[in-house]
Amino acid sequence: MTHLTLRTPDDWHLHLRDGPMLRAVLPWTAAHFARAIIMPNLVPPVVTGADAAAYRARIMAALPEGAQFTPLMTLYLTEDTRPDDVAAAHAANLIHAVKLYPAGATTNSASGVADFSRVQGVLERMAQIGLPLCVHGEVTDPAVDIFDREAVFIDRVLDPLRRRVPGLKVVLEHITTAQGVDYVKAHDTGLGGTITTHHLVINRNHILAGGIRPHYYCLPVAKREKHRLALRTVATSGDARFFLGTDSAPHTDPAKLQPCGCAGCFTAPNTMPILAHVFEEDGALDKLEAFTSLNGPAFYGLPPNEGTITLARGAPDLPSCINTDDGPVTIFDPGFTPGWHVTARSSC
Ligand code: NCD
Ligand code: ZN
Repeated sequence: MTHLTLRTPDDWHLHLRDGPMLRAVLPWTAAHFARAIIMPNLVPPVVTGADAAAYRARIMAALPEGAQFTPLMTLYLTEDTRPDDVAAAHAANLIHAVKLYPAGATTNSASGVADFSRVQGVLERMAQIGLPLCVHGEVTDPAVDIFDREAVFIDRVLDPLRRRVPGLKVVLEHITTAQGVDYVKAHDTGLGGTITTHHLVINRNHILAGGIRPHYYCLPVAKREKHRLALRTVATSGDARFFLGTDSAPHTDPAKLQPCGCAGCFTAPNTMPILAHVFEEDGALDKLEAFTSLNGPAFYGLPPNEGTITLARGAPDLPSCINTDDGPVTIFDPGFTPGWHVTARSSC
């Protein structure tokens, strides 16, 4: 096989930032993806329908001429989020999900939720109207080891929350553990899981063995090899509950390369080449379209894209970093040369 044509993919978890960074990173996503769920962890965060409308307008203004890309906006859940505001933004077709950050779990999560009793009303309204909750699944308890925070979150927070709000659609985002995979697999309806590009490729040794590699540091942090293999197995299986959410999270090199560096891998430019390589390695090229282009829309109740993207043999021609007016941003290095590159995207 020399070419691979798929329905145009979507990214179900993406950080675009704002200002100069938005203008620099958006074209990379818009080149390969038709839609993306846009994370609301700006400073200050996107908390109201009005904030989401304004942010969407800034994204549309930053799109290159002729680009075909639809941002799917989200609201940042706080303890003060009003059910009526969420319902109105959903009714206006402005938002496609609400994002739960446990307070303090990751970048710009200070306004997240600490007391879950205070968001019960919003979650119940979301269940009524069929609006999904996207979940950053890590506990923030300093007593819990960082490598255990996802598994503990599932037991302590996620499972009780889903029992308190039956019918709520939930996406367990950027799954990094076998426990995350198993939890999603154990529940048939209303629960999905996104998997990033980089968690299919790196384990914790890549970050820490033989020297510390800040560009591989993200949250949730990559785990042991057995967890990476569990993610690979389920992503390449075609299971409809699992789909791509790159969590492409650009930070400038100066922000990453310091004594306390930022978490996030910038994977938007090379996600599709890396995924084609990974799926081929696992003998599952025929399952790539389900993971990138079919399972996500089905979960969100949206039609798959009509257009296509074509990949051809040969490595992508990419720089190691891109320049932004905020500073350079390093592109994720998978540690191998992808055997595919994107050649074309058609709209029908
Ligand atoms: C994200 C960011 O930089 O906004 N970082 C990351 O490591 N993934 C936040 C997040 O999704 O946790
Ligand atoms: Zn993220």
